[in-house]
Amino acid sequence: MSEKLASTEVSSPRTPGRPFVGRVTELEELRAALDLTAARRGFLFLLSGEPGIGKTRLMHELAREAGERGWRVAAGRCWEEGGAPAYWPWIQAVRALGGDFERLAARPGESVDPQTVRFRLFNAVAEFLVDTAQARPLVVVLDDLHAADAASLVMLRFVSEAVADAPVLVVGSYREREARLHERPESFAELVRVATRVSLQGLSVDEVEAYFAGVTGGDAPRSPAARLHVLTGGNPFFLGEVVRLVAHDTLLDGGAALDPMGRVPEEVRTLLRRRIADLPQDAVEALRVAAVVGREFNFRVLERTCRVSVARLLDVLAEACDAGVITEDPAFPRRYAFVHELVRETLYDDLAAAQRLELHRMIGAVLEELYRNDLDPHLSEIAHHLALAAPVGDVSAAVGYLVRAGDRAASLLAYEEAGVHYERALGLLGRRRGGFHGTPLRASPAPRRCPLAGRRHARRAGRLRGGHRARSPPGRRRDARACSPRLRDRARRLPAVRPLRGGRDGDRAARGGARRASRARQPAPGAGARTPGRGDVLLQ
Ligand SMILES: Nc1ncnc2c1ncn2[C@@H]1O[C@H](COP(=O)(O)OP(=O)(O)OP(=O)(O)O)[C@@H](O)[C@H]1O
Ligand SMILES: [Mg+2]
Repeated sequence: MSEKLASTEVSSPRTPGRPFVGRVTELEELRAALDLTAARRGFLFLLSGEPGIGKTRLMHELAREAGERGWRVAAGRCWEEGGAPAYWPWIQAVRALGGDFERLAARPGESVDPQTVRFRLFNAVAEFLVDTAQARPLVVVLDDLHAADAASLVMLRFVSEAVADAPVLVVGSYREREARLHERPESFAELVRVATRVSLQGLSVDEVEAYFAGVTGGDAPRSPAARLHVLTGGNPFFLGEVVRLVAHDTLLDGGAALDPMGRVPEEVRTLLRRRIADLPQDAVEALRVAAVVGREFNFRVLERTCRVSVARLLDVLAEACDAGVITEDPAFPRRYAFVHELVRETLYDDLAAAQRLELHRMIGAVLEELYRNDLDPHLSEIAHHLALAAPVGDVSAAVGYLVRAGDRAASLLAYEEAGVHYERALGLLGRRRGGFHGTPLRASPAPRRCPLAGRRHARRAGRLRGGHRARSPPGRRRDARACSPRLRDRARRLPAVRPLRGGRDGDRAARGGARRASRARQPAPGAGARTPGRGDVLLQ
């Protein structure tokens, strides 16, 4: 993933030319939310549902309508595959509005109390959104929140309250029943408590029929809507896949019903595989590499990882676009995305384990080389690939990047994210000692020396009291294992950010933020299921 890959506006729907059906009630609710927000009653609206149920598409419809009403629209999407920088959805949304997230994060202040510093960041972002919305109302759409880093969710909670007297509507989407939700149950419980939430369900038989008629132009002699409905559970993504086949005269017989466990039915995977299998072999191989890169991928990464010429690669990507497997970002040529996460997942799952490891290793190395002059925004992405490749790759390098990614997250006040990186590094070191069956742990070469040695990192993180005394570059035998106790120490010293109570902070800026948050806690009349916020501004 590249930071630039993040769209700075809502990108076009992933299946252009396909009809949009149903969602009448949901759209009505969203329109009511726009009306309320226009009257300076901003709030958080959450769309949830299973994969492919239409969350993103509905957000596109909302964004389109908001745009037609003259609203500003800013979008951010969480990165599904892990490895995105902390606050990634917010970074994109702020950037879409012409702001610079890092500058907001770097606002000077006297206090070094980590809670206060983070409060200021949240407040700065909230104020930026509120100020931006003064000229025209604003809708911020944040997609795939189930994949968000913890700090982004806490910021969302903060912002959702801080915009309550401003024309700012925040709409988020997340997948229900995602394992990742259970990693952050409190954050989601808090969000759901303060938001208006709509859980999207499958389309009805009539809507399936309307969809089928829309795609086939109503020419089919007999509508298989009832059968399609059973087969797909009204899930628009599955429906689109099956209809694509039906429209190509493939018989719909003996289809499996939806898996009762909510998993992707094997039938749909088979459909996806069939669509991919029609492509030439080198296109399939390129797509497999892309599936390891992530849902979105950049031509420059693929170019360096695939064994085909640039010209051929462009051709095969064009073919994959024509086949509806990927789309090219209209705003950024040569940046692509799989039409759906399930497509990527199917390709990824079909790779042999050894191939996956090797591809992660290669992609990590390619990213390292590609962004060597500007590594910071890509640290977690590189760390992600190298960590996954650790059994066959360079564990020291993976640990080094994880620690640097952790330091960067800490410097951006994303302490949970920093903790995740440090823990992952510790896990790698532990597993390494237990023994990977891959390459031996090598002494870290100079540029990859143990990054824990620098007091500078501790100071940059701003909260690691005492820091660590700078040491000379490690020698041959001072490999990443030597970092382990210090890393554990560093992870332990990350500030445990406690809930802040408005006004008790003693810091002027924080009190200002607390006042704003307190104003924001006024319940919005008519805000549906929205529950008024608590007295606390939760920072955790
Ligand atoms: N109401 C609808 N009418 C027609 N097509 C739809 C509708 N909703 C979604 N689709 C199509 O179904 C596919 C899946 O939709 P979408 O990507 O919005 O799902 P999602 O819920 O965001 O999935 P994920 O959780 O994987 O992100 C897309 O091709 C989309 O255009
Ligand atoms: Mg989606």
